[in-house]
Amino acid sequence: MRIGIFGLGYVGTVSAACLVREGHVVVGVDAVETKVRSMQAGITPVQEPGVQELLESGHKSGRLTASLDPGEGVRDADMVWICVGTPSSLDRGLDLSHVEAVAEQIGRAMFTTGSRPLVVLRSTVLPGSMDGKVIPVLEEASGLKCGEDFDAVIHPEFLRESTAIADFDDPPKIVVGEQIPGAGDPLWELYKGFDAPFYRISLREAEMVKYCDNLFHALKITFANEMGAIARKAGLDSRRVAEVFCSDTKLNISPKYLRPGFAFGGSCLPKDLRAILRYASLNSIPTPMFQAVLESNKIQIESLVDRICAYQPKTIGMVGLAFKPNTDDMRESPYVEVAKRLIGEGARLLIFDPHVDPDNLIGANKAMVEAALGHLRSLMTSSLADLREADLILVNHPAVDTDQVREWLDSGIRIIDLAGIKGVGRVQPNYEGISW
Ligand SMILES: NC(=O)c1ccc[n+]([C@@H]2O[C@H](COP(=O)([O-])OP(=O)(O)OC[C@H]3O[C@@H](n4cnc5c(N)ncnc54)[C@H](O)[C@@H]3O)[C@@H](O)[C@H]2O)c1
Repeated sequence: MRIGIFGLGYVGTVSAACLVREGHVVVGVDAVETKVRSMQAGITPVQEPGVQELLESGHKSGRLTASLDPGEGVRDADMVWICVGTPSSLDRGLDLSHVEAVAEQIGRAMFTTGSRPLVVLRSTVLPGSMDGKVIPVLEEASGLKCGEDFDAVIHPEFLRESTAIADFDDPPKIVVGEQIPGAGDPLWELYKGFDAPFYRISLREAEMVKYCDNLFHALKITFANEMGAIARKAGLDSRRVAEVFCSDTKLNISPKYLRPGFAFGGSCLPKDLRAILRYASLNSIPTPMFQAVLESNKIQIESLVDRICAYQPKTIGMVGLAFKPNTDDMRESPYVEVAKRLIGEGARLLIFDPHVDPDNLIGANKAMVEAALGHLRSLMTSSLADLREADLILVNHPAVDTDQVREWLDSGIRIIDLAGIKGVGRVQPNYEGISW
């Protein structure tokens, strides 16, 4: 294929080097003359192991050229990759100006050259940037319609500097966001033979996936560092602790606890977080991330209560009261807290939890729930049918099936689903997922 690479920084240069090695014809375009001259001579404009050798041999083969002229990158190209920077703006947001400038150049070049390459955005951009800003600029400058006259996709880059070639060759995943299914076919073709899962998702999902990755990486590093500081204070080599922690691929390094849902609770997590925070504070160890975890958890509860109250429901049904399904443990259950707040707001509650029997509660469990919901027995119902009286039902546990939820929806009851009941469409009247 003939591929125009716009932006000869780390991403663009590594991509150019690897694509030319794969046998493609690459035209690099940059606004900085020294970078273009360097590429024209087969000399890498960035330092990255292995890239120089690939560019040199690409240059010798005649399949690698570079230009300051955007038209050169677009003319006869099968694809153009936008790899320009998206730095922080002065207001700490994202500066999309380089991407927009290149989109305009590409659009104009499509108009003048008559070429209709697939436009591939590799830069990291916020959800909504591609369909809200980049595609309109491309359309305006080219006088063409995306999806009819040309296609544009988002293809986030996951390479890491210093191991960029290895990451290109063995990516953890290949993600293509499409406005129209099939638009990304040329990329499917390009990556044939790569041993990586290939995801074809919407433009906004693809944009968000990249942030999800980077936020999680930043979070992991901060988690490890704050935990390391606490362990060191306890006289430990935190690397040993981390080794054992990371060896647990069932609960720790796994998809467990990574599905969007509702606040945590129960007899362990809140208590243990508080204990570590107290320990850190007594030992003057700053742990802002761990502190923010409890704060954030509280906000989940407050936001849900605000969301419910906005509908001004008189009677609210709740499926699930214990801190998780299949237990009667209500110690620090976030649903108990939600119930308490809703009662405080004047709502009538009907709670169904097949595992909670108010007459059989004992010990700390009984004490804690009674402190929050003194008249628990009068709030609970043993029959799901009673919940039909509600204006709004909170599905906290997956203790109901799709048919039951549909029946409630059909009878006009608003459902807020915290449990992710399978088979219920995201977009249907009266239905809301907690974060879907
Ligand atoms: N560096 C990484 O490890 C990495 C990894 C994944 C994703 N990303 C994302 O990829 C994007 C590019 O990152 P980078 O580190 O390669 O950036 P970079 O700053 O190294 O390179 C950007 C290049 O774009 C050029 N450019 C700017 N405006 C231009 C224009 N109008 N026409 C042509 N060229 C122009 C600049 O001169 C520069 O050479 C960013 O959105 C970044 O967040 C970077």
